[in-house]
Amino acid sequence: MKRDLISLRDLNKKEIIFLFKKTKELKKIFKKKKILNLLKGRIGVLIFEKPSLRTRVTFETALKQLGGDSIYLSPQDIQMGKRESIKDVAQNLSRWVDLIIVRTFSHNITKELKEYSAIPIINALDDYEHPCQALADYYTIWERESNIERIKLGFIGDGNNVCHSLMLGAKILGINMIVATPKNYEPDKEIIEFSKDKVILTNDPKEVVKECDYIYTDVWVSMGQENEKEKRIRDFQGFQINSELLKLAKKDYKIMHCLPAHRGEEITDEILDSKNSIVLDQAENRLHIQRTLILYLLNLIKFRSSIKK
Ligand code: CP
Ligand code: NVA
Repeated sequence: MKRDLISLRDLNKKEIIFLFKKTKELKKIFKKKKILNLLKGRIGVLIFEKPSLRTRVTFETALKQLGGDSIYLSPQDIQMGKRESIKDVAQNLSRWVDLIIVRTFSHNITKELKEYSAIPIINALDDYEHPCQALADYYTIWERESNIERIKLGFIGDGNNVCHSLMLGAKILGINMIVATPKNYEPDKEIIEFSKDKVILTNDPKEVVKECDYIYTDVWVSMGQENEKEKRIRDFQGFQINSELLKLAKKDYKIMHCLPAHRGEEITDEILDSKNSIVLDQAENRLHIQRTLILYLLNLIKFRSSIKK
């Protein structure tokens, strides 16, 4: 049976911890600039309907570092659903290449690609989830902690794709999380229901700052929401991560952001660039975790729960 990652729910806790341990091992190897030819002759296609720096570069780099190759398709190239149906795109690509990495608007498109493709699909962000981001973020925390279940993660901002995948991860990994959003920007009901025994919701960012070890934010205006910019900036007033809010924080708090940041909106320069910020570790780890993920989905590494940290 083929394996996909369109939601963080496609992985269970044991698999995620296995991926973390394997990533730690491979990260050391790749830091020494070693080459592993595990993907020789294999191609990953990136279908990207939105811009990207981190996701595109880390996936293309990972494929090439593993001895494979990548093809990048921009919105103009295939016009999925316009020039050709999603089903036809999925079925054609399945005859030529080994993996599809898709960044699109609707989660339904990601699901349809999964349904009709015979090769693994990776969700590289849609309107509902950003599972690769959450994997890299939890890996970043896991690398720093002897027991990730002891930490508390806080999210301040929009209850959107990144927040959703983090909430699913909190439930799957057994991490307590507090999510602070303005009214009407709460996460999706189904995600709230799934993660309800691990995730508390509030409309007060101070609650997050007072209690959490890791404080995470994302943009207030996501890709595709540009026409709502003015309203959103008004509605999110009071949710900026800045030095005033962080006066209430614990001593060793860490700041997280998926990036790109809209500096001066959801977070100030001072905080994003501070010594408490681990955003560049998160960005770096996108590469390391996705390298392992590709190998896992292509059945090139076998799941073993007993592997050491
Ligand atoms: N965090 C993230 O996905 O960044 P990009 O939009 O640059 O890929
Ligand atoms: N919520 C943001 C995340 C970008 C990585 C967006 O969808 O644009």
